[in-house]
Amino acid sequence: MNNHKIAVIAGDGIGPEVISEGVKVLQHIASLDENINFEFEHFPWGCEYYLKNGKMMPDDGIEILSKFDAIYLGAVGYPGVPDHISLWDLLLKIRHDFDQYVNLRPVKLLKGAPCPLKDVKEEDIDMIVIRENSEGEYAGAGDWLYKGQPNEVVLQTGVFSRKGTERIIRYAFELAKKEGKSLTSISKGNALNYSMVFWDKVFNEVAQEYPEVKTHHLLVDAASMFFVKDPKRFEVVVTSNLFGDILTDLGAAISGGMGLAAGANINPEGKFPSMFEPIHGSAPDIAGQEVSNPLASIWSVSQMLDHFGYTEWGKKVLDAIEAVMVEKQFLTPDMGGTAKTSEVGAAVIAKLK
Ligand code: NAD
Ligand code: IPM
Ligand code: MN
Repeated sequence: MNNHKIAVIAGDGIGPEVISEGVKVLQHIASLDENINFEFEHFPWGCEYYLKNGKMMPDDGIEILSKFDAIYLGAVGYPGVPDHISLWDLLLKIRHDFDQYVNLRPVKLLKGAPCPLKDVKEEDIDMIVIRENSEGEYAGAGDWLYKGQPNEVVLQTGVFSRKGTERIIRYAFELAKKEGKSLTSISKGNALNYSMVFWDKVFNEVAQEYPEVKTHHLLVDAASMFFVKDPKRFEVVVTSNLFGDILTDLGAAISGGMGLAAGANINPEGKFPSMFEPIHGSAPDIAGQEVSNPLASIWSVSQMLDHFGYTEWGKKVLDAIEAVMVEKQFLTPDMGGTAKTSEVGAAVIAKLK
Protein backbone atom coordinates (compact mmCIF):
# COMPACT_ATOMS: atom_id res chain seq x y z
CA MET A 1 0.00 0.00 0.00
CA ASN A 2 1.41 3.37 -1.05
CA ASN A 3 0.43 6.20 1.25
CA HIS A 4 0.50 9.80 -0.03
CA LYS A 5 0.27 12.75 2.32
CA ILE A 6 -1.58 15.63 0.68
CA ALA A 7 -1.72 19.15 2.13
CA VAL A 8 -5.01 20.76 1.12
CA ILE A 9 -5.16 24.55 0.96
CA ALA A 10 -8.68 25.22 -0.28
CA GLY A 11 -8.17 28.98 0.00
CA ASP A 12 -10.62 31.71 -0.94
CA GLY A 13 -13.85 32.26 -2.84
CA ILE A 14 -14.78 29.22 -4.92
CA GLY A 15 -11.57 27.45 -3.83
CA PRO A 16 -13.21 25.33 -1.09
CA GLU A 17 -16.17 24.34 -3.36
CA VAL A 18 -14.02 23.05 -6.19
CA ILE A 19 -11.31 21.49 -4.04
CA SER A 20 -13.82 19.47 -2.08
CA GLU A 21 -14.85 17.72 -5.34
CA GLY A 22 -11.24 16.93 -6.22
CA VAL A 23 -10.63 15.45 -2.78
CA LYS A 24 -13.69 13.22 -3.23
CA VAL A 25 -12.29 11.99 -6.55
CA LEU A 26 -9.00 11.04 -4.88
CA GLN A 27 -10.84 9.32 -2.02
CA HIS A 28 -12.92 7.39 -4.52
CA ILE A 29 -9.80 6.21 -6.35
CA ALA A 30 -8.26 5.08 -3.06
CA SER A 31 -11.44 3.09 -2.37
CA LEU A 32 -11.15 1.37 -5.77
CA ASP A 33 -7.42 0.68 -5.70
CA GLU A 34 -6.13 -1.30 -2.75
CA ASN A 35 -2.56 -0.17 -3.47
CA ILE A 36 -3.26 3.53 -3.02
CA ASN A 37 -4.05 5.55 0.07
CA PHE A 38 -4.30 9.33 0.46
CA GLU A 39 -3.96 11.07 3.77
CA PHE A 40 -5.35 14.61 3.70
CA GLU A 41 -4.59 17.45 6.04
CA HIS A 42 -6.56 20.67 5.55
CA PHE A 43 -5.02 24.08 6.19
CA PRO A 44 -7.41 27.03 6.57
CA TRP A 45 -4.92 29.51 5.10
CA GLY A 46 -6.01 32.38 2.89
CA CYS A 47 -7.66 35.79 3.09
CA GLU A 48 -10.01 35.01 6.00
CA TYR A 49 -7.03 33.67 7.93
CA TYR A 50 -5.20 36.91 7.10
CA LEU A 51 -7.99 39.09 8.41
CA LYS A 52 -7.92 37.17 11.73
CA ASN A 53 -4.17 36.65 12.09
CA GLY A 54 -2.50 39.37 10.03
CA LYS A 55 -0.74 36.78 7.87
CA MET A 56 -1.71 34.42 5.06
CA MET A 57 -0.22 31.36 6.76
CA PRO A 58 1.71 30.72 9.96
CA ASP A 59 5.41 31.67 10.06
CA ASP A 60 6.39 28.02 9.83
CA GLY A 61 3.87 27.32 7.03
CA ILE A 62 6.52 26.38 4.49
CA GLU A 63 8.19 24.03 6.94
CA ILE A 64 4.82 22.39 7.69
CA LEU A 65 4.13 21.90 3.97
CA SER A 66 7.60 20.50 3.30
CA LYS A 67 6.58 17.27 5.09
CA PHE A 68 3.89 16.49 2.49
CA ASP A 69 4.11 14.57 -0.78
CA ALA A 70 1.97 17.10 -2.65
CA ILE A 71 -0.06 20.26 -2.15
CA TYR A 72 -3.58 20.61 -3.52
CA LEU A 73 -4.62 24.25 -3.76
CA GLY A 74 -7.92 25.93 -4.65
CA ALA A 75 -7.53 29.65 -5.16
CA VAL A 76 -6.06 32.59 -3.32
CA GLY A 77 -7.16 36.23 -3.28
CA TYR A 78 -10.30 38.03 -2.21
CA PRO A 79 -11.57 41.62 -2.04
CA GLY A 80 -10.58 43.04 1.34
CA VAL A 81 -6.96 41.90 1.20
CA PRO A 82 -4.65 43.50 -1.39
CA ASP A 83 -3.91 40.92 -4.08
CA HIS A 84 -0.15 41.49 -4.06
CA ILE A 85 -0.09 40.61 -0.35
CA SER A 86 -2.36 37.56 -0.47
CA LEU A 87 -0.67 36.08 -3.52
CA TRP A 88 2.94 36.87 -2.61
CA ASP A 89 2.55 35.54 0.93
CA LEU A 90 0.90 32.25 -0.02
CA LEU A 91 0.66 30.99 -3.60
CA LEU A 92 3.76 32.67 -5.01
CA LYS A 93 5.70 31.99 -1.81
CA ILE A 94 5.02 28.26 -2.14
CA ARG A 95 6.00 28.24 -5.84
CA HIS A 96 9.24 30.09 -5.05
CA ASP A 97 10.27 28.48 -1.76
CA PHE A 98 9.68 24.97 -3.11
CA ASP A 99 11.47 25.80 -6.35
CA GLN A 100 8.47 24.63 -8.38
CA TYR A 101 10.08 26.04 -11.47
CA VAL A 102 7.99 24.14 -14.00
CA ASN A 103 4.36 25.12 -14.46
CA LEU A 104 2.67 22.52 -16.67
CA ARG A 105 -0.55 23.79 -18.19
CA PRO A 106 -2.30 21.55 -20.70
CA VAL A 107 -4.33 23.39 -23.34
CA LYS A 108 -6.26 20.52 -24.80
CA LEU A 109 -9.76 20.44 -26.22
CA LEU A 110 -11.38 17.46 -24.51
CA LYS A 111 -14.38 15.71 -26.04
CA GLY A 112 -17.58 17.58 -25.24
CA ALA A 113 -15.81 20.77 -24.10
CA PRO A 114 -17.28 24.00 -25.45
CA CYS A 115 -15.01 25.77 -27.95
CA PRO A 116 -15.68 29.30 -29.19
CA LEU A 117 -13.54 28.87 -32.32
CA LYS A 118 -15.07 28.08 -35.69
CA ASP A 119 -14.25 24.85 -37.56
CA VAL A 120 -11.92 23.51 -34.89
CA LYS A 121 -11.69 19.79 -34.16
CA GLU A 122 -10.50 18.23 -30.90
CA GLU A 123 -7.15 17.22 -32.33
CA ASP A 124 -6.51 20.84 -33.41
CA ILE A 125 -6.06 22.02 -29.82
CA ASP A 126 -3.66 19.72 -28.04
CA MET A 127 -0.69 21.48 -26.51
CA ILE A 128 1.15 21.62 -23.26
CA VAL A 129 2.35 25.03 -22.16
CA ILE A 130 5.48 24.93 -20.03
CA ARG A 131 5.58 28.15 -18.10
CA GLU A 132 8.75 29.23 -16.27
CA ASN A 133 7.53 29.45 -12.69
CA SER A 134 10.34 30.71 -10.47
CA GLU A 135 11.70 34.01 -11.78
CA GLY A 136 11.37 36.18 -14.89
CA GLU A 137 8.79 38.92 -14.53
CA TYR A 138 7.67 37.31 -11.23
CA ALA A 139 11.03 37.58 -9.48
CA GLY A 140 9.66 40.24 -7.15
CA ALA A 141 12.67 42.44 -7.80
CA GLY A 142 12.20 46.17 -7.90
CA ASP A 143 11.79 49.34 -5.93
CA TRP A 144 9.38 52.20 -5.29
CA LEU A 145 11.34 55.39 -4.97
CA TYR A 146 9.99 58.71 -3.66
CA LYS A 147 6.69 56.94 -2.94
CA GLY A 148 3.72 59.28 -3.01
CA GLN A 149 5.77 62.22 -4.22
CA PRO A 150 5.42 63.89 -7.61
CA ASN A 151 8.76 62.43 -8.70
CA GLU A 152 7.98 58.85 -7.65
CA VAL A 153 9.54 56.07 -9.71
CA VAL A 154 8.60 52.41 -9.79
CA LEU A 155 10.89 49.65 -11.00
CA GLN A 156 9.79 46.05 -11.63
CA THR A 157 12.78 44.11 -12.81
CA GLY A 158 12.58 40.93 -14.84
CA VAL A 159 15.18 38.44 -13.64
CA PHE A 160 16.37 35.80 -16.10
CA SER A 161 19.24 33.78 -14.69
CA ARG A 162 21.33 31.43 -16.81
CA LYS A 163 20.35 28.57 -14.51
CA GLY A 164 16.65 29.43 -14.45
CA THR A 165 16.35 29.97 -18.18
CA GLU A 166 18.36 26.94 -19.17
CA ARG A 167 16.59 24.49 -16.88
CA ILE A 168 13.08 25.36 -18.07
CA ILE A 169 14.08 25.25 -21.72
CA ARG A 170 15.87 21.95 -21.20
CA TYR A 171 12.80 20.53 -19.44
CA ALA A 172 10.71 21.51 -22.48
CA PHE A 173 13.15 19.90 -24.91
CA GLU A 174 13.19 16.69 -22.86
CA LEU A 175 9.40 16.52 -22.92
CA ALA A 176 9.18 17.30 -26.64
CA LYS A 177 11.81 14.64 -27.34
CA LYS A 178 10.06 12.04 -25.18
CA GLU A 179 6.70 12.68 -26.84
CA GLY A 180 8.05 13.14 -30.37
CA LYS A 181 6.52 16.61 -30.60
CA SER A 182 7.62 19.99 -31.86
CA LEU A 183 8.66 22.73 -29.44
CA THR A 184 7.68 26.38 -29.80
CA SER A 185 9.51 29.04 -27.82
CA ILE A 186 7.43 32.16 -27.21
CA SER A 187 9.40 35.29 -26.38
CA LYS A 188 9.70 38.96 -27.26
CA GLY A 189 13.28 39.71 -28.23
CA ASN A 190 12.35 42.59 -30.52
CA ALA A 191 11.34 44.81 -27.61
CA LEU A 192 12.79 43.23 -24.46
CA ASN A 193 16.36 43.70 -25.57
CA TYR A 194 18.05 42.06 -22.58
CA SER A 195 15.80 39.39 -21.10
CA MET A 196 14.25 38.00 -24.24
CA VAL A 197 17.35 38.28 -26.39
CA PHE A 198 19.00 36.16 -23.69
CA TRP A 199 16.04 33.74 -23.64
CA ASP A 200 16.30 33.25 -27.42
CA LYS A 201 20.07 32.74 -27.19
CA VAL A 202 19.71 30.07 -24.50
CA PHE A 203 16.92 28.38 -26.46
CA ASN A 204 19.14 28.17 -29.56
CA GLU A 205 22.05 26.84 -27.52
CA VAL A 206 20.02 24.09 -25.87
CA ALA A 207 18.41 23.26 -29.23
CA GLN A 208 21.84 22.15 -30.48
CA GLU A 209 21.66 19.23 -28.04
CA TYR A 210 18.27 18.10 -29.41
CA PRO A 211 18.63 17.88 -33.19
CA GLU A 212 15.64 15.48 -33.29
CA VAL A 213 13.21 18.10 -31.91
CA LYS A 214 11.60 20.37 -34.48
CA THR A 215 11.58 23.93 -33.11
CA HIS A 216 9.68 27.13 -33.79
CA HIS A 217 10.05 30.66 -32.44
CA LEU A 218 7.21 33.12 -32.08
CA LEU A 219 6.92 36.60 -30.65
CA VAL A 220 4.30 36.61 -27.93
CA ASP A 221 1.97 39.02 -29.72
CA ALA A 222 1.88 36.87 -32.85
CA ALA A 223 1.63 33.73 -30.73
CA SER A 224 -1.55 35.09 -29.08
CA MET A 225 -3.02 35.65 -32.50
CA PHE A 226 -2.14 32.10 -33.60
CA PHE A 227 -3.63 30.59 -30.41
CA VAL A 228 -6.94 31.80 -31.80
CA LYS A 229 -6.42 31.58 -35.55
CA ASP A 230 -4.36 28.39 -35.84
CA PRO A 231 -3.94 26.56 -32.52
CA LYS A 232 -2.92 23.30 -34.16
CA ARG A 233 0.55 24.67 -34.90
CA PHE A 234 1.39 24.37 -31.18
CA GLU A 235 2.45 21.12 -29.49
CA VAL A 236 4.92 21.71 -26.67
CA VAL A 237 5.28 25.41 -25.82
CA VAL A 238 7.87 27.00 -23.54
CA THR A 239 7.64 30.58 -22.37
CA SER A 240 8.37 32.99 -19.55
CA ASN A 241 6.41 33.35 -16.34
CA LEU A 242 4.20 36.32 -17.29
CA PHE A 243 3.72 35.34 -20.92
CA GLY A 244 2.76 31.85 -19.75
CA ASP A 245 0.26 33.28 -17.29
CA ILE A 246 -1.48 35.34 -19.96
CA LEU A 247 -1.31 32.75 -22.74
CA THR A 248 -2.83 30.03 -20.56
CA ASP A 249 -5.93 32.08 -19.73
CA LEU A 250 -6.25 32.51 -23.50
CA GLY A 251 -5.61 28.78 -23.84
CA ALA A 252 -8.40 28.14 -21.33
CA ALA A 253 -10.77 30.35 -23.30
CA ILE A 254 -10.30 28.31 -26.49
CA SER A 255 -10.55 24.92 -24.78
CA GLY A 256 -13.56 24.96 -22.48
CA GLY A 257 -13.11 28.01 -20.29
CA MET A 258 -11.61 28.88 -16.92
CA GLY A 259 -13.68 26.21 -15.24
CA LEU A 260 -11.73 23.47 -17.02
CA ALA A 261 -8.09 24.64 -17.12
CA ALA A 262 -5.63 22.95 -14.76
CA GLY A 263 -2.02 23.45 -13.81
CA ALA A 264 0.78 21.64 -12.01
CA ASN A 265 3.64 23.44 -10.26
CA ILE A 266 6.46 20.94 -10.36
CA ASN A 267 9.77 20.67 -8.56
CA PRO A 268 11.25 18.12 -10.97
CA GLU A 269 14.05 17.06 -8.60
CA GLY A 270 11.48 16.00 -6.01
CA LYS A 271 13.38 17.83 -3.29
CA PHE A 272 10.19 19.68 -2.38
CA PRO A 273 6.50 18.87 -2.78
CA SER A 274 4.85 19.85 -6.05
CA MET A 275 1.55 21.73 -6.08
CA PHE A 276 -1.61 21.08 -8.12
CA GLU A 277 -4.31 23.66 -8.75
CA PRO A 278 -6.87 24.91 -11.20
CA ILE A 279 -5.45 27.94 -13.03
CA HIS A 280 -8.50 30.07 -12.29
CA GLY A 281 -8.81 32.40 -9.33
CA SER A 282 -11.27 32.71 -6.47
CA ALA A 283 -14.04 34.04 -8.76
CA PRO A 284 -15.63 36.42 -6.23
CA ASP A 285 -18.42 37.10 -8.74
CA ILE A 286 -19.85 33.57 -8.29
CA ALA A 287 -18.43 32.50 -4.92
CA GLY A 288 -20.80 30.91 -2.42
CA GLN A 289 -23.48 30.08 -4.99
CA GLU A 290 -22.37 26.47 -5.60
CA VAL A 291 -22.23 27.15 -9.35
CA SER A 292 -18.46 27.02 -9.81
CA ASN A 293 -17.15 24.41 -12.20
CA PRO A 294 -15.03 21.80 -10.37
CA LEU A 295 -13.64 20.20 -13.54
CA ALA A 296 -10.45 22.30 -13.55
CA SER A 297 -9.58 21.22 -10.04
CA ILE A 298 -10.48 17.63 -10.91
CA TRP A 299 -8.19 17.80 -13.95
CA SER A 300 -5.41 18.94 -11.62
CA VAL A 301 -6.08 15.78 -9.59
CA SER A 302 -5.38 13.88 -12.81
CA GLN A 303 -2.05 15.73 -13.05
CA MET A 304 -1.29 14.79 -9.44
CA LEU A 305 -1.98 11.13 -10.19
CA ASP A 306 0.37 11.31 -13.20
CA HIS A 307 3.00 12.91 -10.98
CA PHE A 308 2.75 10.06 -8.47
CA GLY A 309 3.19 7.60 -11.34
CA TYR A 310 -0.46 6.50 -11.49
CA THR A 311 -0.79 7.46 -15.15
CA GLU A 312 -3.61 4.97 -15.74
CA TRP A 313 -5.68 6.64 -13.04
CA GLY A 314 -4.71 10.05 -14.39
CA LYS A 315 -6.10 9.03 -17.77
CA LYS A 316 -9.23 7.54 -16.23
CA VAL A 317 -9.98 10.84 -14.48
CA LEU A 318 -9.62 12.73 -17.77
CA ASP A 319 -11.83 10.16 -19.51
CA ALA A 320 -14.45 10.60 -16.78
CA ILE A 321 -14.35 14.40 -17.22
CA GLU A 322 -14.83 13.91 -20.97
CA ALA A 323 -17.69 11.48 -20.46
CA VAL A 324 -19.51 13.98 -18.24
CA MET A 325 -19.03 16.76 -20.79
CA VAL A 326 -20.18 14.58 -23.70
CA GLU A 327 -23.30 13.52 -21.79
CA LYS A 328 -24.08 17.16 -20.87
CA GLN A 329 -26.49 16.10 -18.11
CA PHE A 330 -24.47 17.56 -15.24
CA LEU A 331 -22.67 20.76 -16.20
CA THR A 332 -22.33 24.06 -14.37
CA PRO A 333 -23.69 27.32 -15.91
CA ASP A 334 -20.32 28.36 -17.41
CA MET A 335 -20.68 25.28 -19.65
CA GLY A 336 -24.33 25.94 -20.39
CA GLY A 337 -25.77 23.63 -17.73
CA THR A 338 -27.74 24.10 -14.51
CA ALA A 339 -25.95 21.64 -12.23
CA LYS A 340 -24.37 22.54 -8.93
CA THR A 341 -20.65 22.15 -8.24
CA SER A 342 -21.16 18.99 -6.17
CA GLU A 343 -23.45 17.41 -8.78
CA VAL A 344 -20.73 17.73 -11.41
CA GLY A 345 -18.21 16.21 -8.99
CA ALA A 346 -20.58 13.31 -8.29
CA ALA A 347 -21.11 12.77 -12.03
CA VAL A 348 -17.35 12.45 -12.56
CA ILE A 349 -17.09 9.95 -9.71
CA ALA A 350 -19.97 7.92 -11.14
CA LYS A 351 -17.97 7.50 -14.37
CA LEU A 352 -14.77 6.37 -12.60
CA LYS A 353 -14.33 2.63 -12.61
P1 NAD B 1 -10.87 34.35 -11.84
O1 NAD B 1 -10.20 33.24 -12.54
O2 NAD B 1 -11.16 34.18 -10.40
O3 NAD B 1 -12.24 34.69 -12.58
C1 NAD B 1 -12.30 35.10 -13.96
C2 NAD B 1 -13.70 34.76 -14.52
O4 NAD B 1 -13.77 33.33 -14.70
C3 NAD B 1 -14.83 35.13 -13.57
O5 NAD B 1 -15.92 35.56 -14.33
C4 NAD B 1 -15.17 33.82 -12.89
O6 NAD B 1 -16.52 33.72 -12.46
C5 NAD B 1 -14.85 32.79 -13.97
N1 NAD B 1 -14.43 31.52 -13.36
C6 NAD B 1 -13.22 31.26 -12.80
N2 NAD B 1 -13.19 30.01 -12.33
C7 NAD B 1 -14.38 29.45 -12.59
C8 NAD B 1 -14.96 28.17 -12.33
N3 NAD B 1 -14.29 27.19 -11.72
N4 NAD B 1 -16.25 27.95 -12.72
C9 NAD B 1 -16.93 28.92 -13.36
N5 NAD B 1 -16.45 30.14 -13.63
C10 NAD B 1 -15.18 30.41 -13.24
O7 NAD B 1 -9.95 35.64 -12.06
P2 NAD B 1 -10.05 37.13 -11.44
O8 NAD B 1 -11.47 37.54 -11.30
O9 NAD B 1 -9.15 37.93 -12.26
O10 NAD B 1 -9.42 36.99 -9.99
C11 NAD B 1 -10.15 36.83 -8.78
C12 NAD B 1 -9.19 36.69 -7.62
O11 NAD B 1 -8.46 35.46 -7.74
C13 NAD B 1 -8.11 37.78 -7.55
O12 NAD B 1 -7.86 38.01 -6.19
C14 NAD B 1 -6.91 37.15 -8.21
O13 NAD B 1 -5.68 37.71 -7.81
C15 NAD B 1 -7.04 35.72 -7.74
N6 NAD B 1 -6.42 34.70 -8.59
C16 NAD B 1 -5.89 33.62 -7.94
C17 NAD B 1 -5.39 32.55 -8.66
C18 NAD B 1 -4.85 31.39 -7.94
O14 NAD B 1 -4.99 31.28 -6.74
N7 NAD B 1 -4.23 30.43 -8.60
C19 NAD B 1 -5.45 32.58 -10.06
C20 NAD B 1 -6.00 33.69 -10.70
C21 NAD B 1 -6.50 34.74 -9.95
C1 IPM C 1 -2.15 31.89 -12.07
C2 IPM C 1 -2.50 33.17 -11.35
C3 IPM C 1 -1.31 33.69 -10.55
C4 IPM C 1 -0.17 33.95 -11.51
C5 IPM C 1 -1.62 34.96 -9.74
C6 IPM C 1 -2.81 34.77 -8.87
C7 IPM C 1 -0.45 35.47 -8.98
O1 IPM C 1 -2.97 34.12 -12.24
O2 IPM C 1 -1.76 30.93 -11.41
O3 IPM C 1 -2.27 31.86 -13.30
O4 IPM C 1 -0.11 35.01 -12.13
O5 IPM C 1 0.67 33.06 -11.63
MN1 MN D 1 -3.21 33.41 -14.24
